[in-house]
Amino acid sequence: MSKTATAIAHPNIAFIKYWGNRDDALRLPANGSISMNLESLYTRTTVTFSTDLRNNVIKINGKKADNATEFRIKDWLDDLICYLYHKKWLKDAPGNVEIISENSFPTGAGIASSASAFAALTLAVFGALGIEADENVLSYWARHGSGSACRSIPEGFCEWARGSSNEDSTAYSLAPASHWDLVDLIAVISGKHKKVGSSKGHWSADTSPFQEQRVRTAPERIAVCRQAILEKDFSALAEVSEKDMLMMHSVMMTQEPPLFYWEPVTIRVIKAVREWREEGLDCFATIDAGPNVHVICTSESAPAVRERLEKLKGIREILSSGPGGKAHLV
Ligand code: PMV
Repeated sequence: MSKTATAIAHPNIAFIKYWGNRDDALRLPANGSISMNLESLYTRTTVTFSTDLRNNVIKINGKKADNATEFRIKDWLDDLICYLYHKKWLKDAPGNVEIISENSFPTGAGIASSASAFAALTLAVFGALGIEADENVLSYWARHGSGSACRSIPEGFCEWARGSSNEDSTAYSLAPASHWDLVDLIAVISGKHKKVGSSKGHWSADTSPFQEQRVRTAPERIAVCRQAILEKDFSALAEVSEKDMLMMHSVMMTQEPPLFYWEPVTIRVIKAVREWREEGLDCFATIDAGPNVHVICTSESAPAVRERLEKLKGIREILSSGPGGKAHLV
């Protein structure tokens, strides 16, 4: 007997960043965070459980997953299956699993591929097993796979609450995708897989002398960012997001071992974007765990910003996306 489902989820770009855990095993974040889903990028994942499958099969972008990824997914799936038995939502052993996942964008280069991957995987697993769970449960399980994945479950602009326990640290939608037609112009500087993934980076965030200060002041930035989104106040969003990104990268660069995700072109883009903003264009730069720069603009400013980005040397490609919807079954 086999059961199958396919899900699509979008990656997200954080305005207020998640960096460091207060519990690494549970991926309980040191601070809350806020992000926007990216409509034109997606992960599409098909999960099939079958008692006829001899082995588990995990394929990402057409290739067998490497051992570390396979172990991470299997470990997460074992925990999820135990939870489903415990809840009595699952009665019979589902058999082995086949997971086929494809990204529409470069994997592991700071475009949050693990976020859309675990969000799509979570939804596809629940879908294949025929279990209807609410968004909170889905966000909880996506978080256990990759922290920021919990923000790719709900719609549009999402806040991941720091929470007070394992159970209540999940993401919810602050506003739907239609709320604000922002544009993310992603300046792709390198499509290569990063050397140090974010999971390892989170583990040693506390070794930076700046992490304590970043985490302690995060609630203030979250409040400003939340309000800026709700009121569509671009200047406030730009200021708080750029500051928060620079704080996260200051932590990254000063933790042990230090993580330098930026390339020379990364800093060129950051400086250019700041100049353009001073000249009156609505744009700001934010960067996750990779060299690529997400240039967030209003839809009015986007064409002019894109034109200027195209003239900067060292950018390989510019991807463009508006705010994205929630993870869904297809
Ligand atoms: O979910 P992870 O473990 O890939 O962490 C991602 C962390 C950042 O992308 C750097 C910031 C964020 O909040 O998305």
